[in-house]
Amino acid sequence: MAKENGKATAVAHSNIALVKYWGKRNEALVLPWQSSLSVTLAPLEVKTTVAFGAPEDNIRLNGKEAKGSERARVIALADVVRKSKPQLGPLCVHSEGNFPASAGLASSAAAFAALALALREAAGLEEEVEATSLLARLGSGSACRSIQGGVCVWHRGEREDGADSFARQHFAAEHWPNLRMVAVILSREEKAVNSRDGMRNTVQTSPYYPAWVKAAEADIGPALEAIGARDIEKLGTLAERNAWRMHATSFAATPPLSYMKPATLAILLALEEERRKGTALWFTLDAGPNPVLLTEEAHLPKALAFAERFSPLEAVVCHPGGDARLLSEGHLF
Ligand code: DP6
Repeated sequence: MAKENGKATAVAHSNIALVKYWGKRNEALVLPWQSSLSVTLAPLEVKTTVAFGAPEDNIRLNGKEAKGSERARVIALADVVRKSKPQLGPLCVHSEGNFPASAGLASSAAAFAALALALREAAGLEEEVEATSLLARLGSGSACRSIQGGVCVWHRGEREDGADSFARQHFAAEHWPNLRMVAVILSREEKAVNSRDGMRNTVQTSPYYPAWVKAAEADIGPALEAIGARDIEKLGTLAERNAWRMHATSFAATPPLSYMKPATLAILLALEEERRKGTALWFTLDAGPNPVLLTEEAHLPKALAFAERFSPLEAVVCHPGGDARLLSEGHLF
């Protein structure tokens, strides 16, 4: 449909995990030790155009030529597709986010989800959710949860080849349209340890890691129940506990790893008092200093006033987004 001489364009939303993925059992295949659950984040999205048959591999991300590991990760994903169809040849990739990559929001999930969908389409492969999620996973684990919208669970799978490790939608975005996620941007500095290195170090050295795996896996069922019942208090309480536990595993690593800054902790510790005042507000925190607050539309003004007290650079309001999709026009080149 979106194909034009081996060219395809796809758009995908970012996502925020409420039950985090933290640690791989197989690095090369990006296979996690535990399942994870996330909500797709609209309006944050990345658009990617891919065309095979270029003179040489050419990768541009947000207007700049990609270099080093960024470029290598895009080419590695393209190679997965090219392996089965060597005649496709070199490719040109342009990718742009509608939010700054350095904003501290998970742009790689959206970027690799859009790339996987566009790559398969440009290569003439069937549009198939499961296969696209599997491909996106090889680019970045969390990206496999951005192929479908709403609430997705990445089931860890059991197979050694990873063929059963992909994400599936459990609730469409329409199930809980007034759910809100507010990303509180406290810092735009590049973090000292990226999530890939941070989780590797945690798996290898944290004595708490096995307990994390067990506890996180056990969070999936109750999180789905809370979402099914649209119970923000149950979901928020569970998401907070899951985030504390993920970060606790890393505090206990050698060398110890904290993604929290003093300003992060100030927000996290003020939430209980805010809830006593009647605001439905909880946090989750990825591998960075910027918390994402979980609330509902009716509590948004109070949530934003709360965030403002900590003088953030920005507060970005998100709602559950839809599926990654192919576009038939508006290619980036
Ligand atoms: C803390 O998906 O960025 O955001 O698979 O190594 O590319 P790689 O890691 P990535 O890690 C995300 C970690 C997290 C939690 C989550 O999104 O589940």
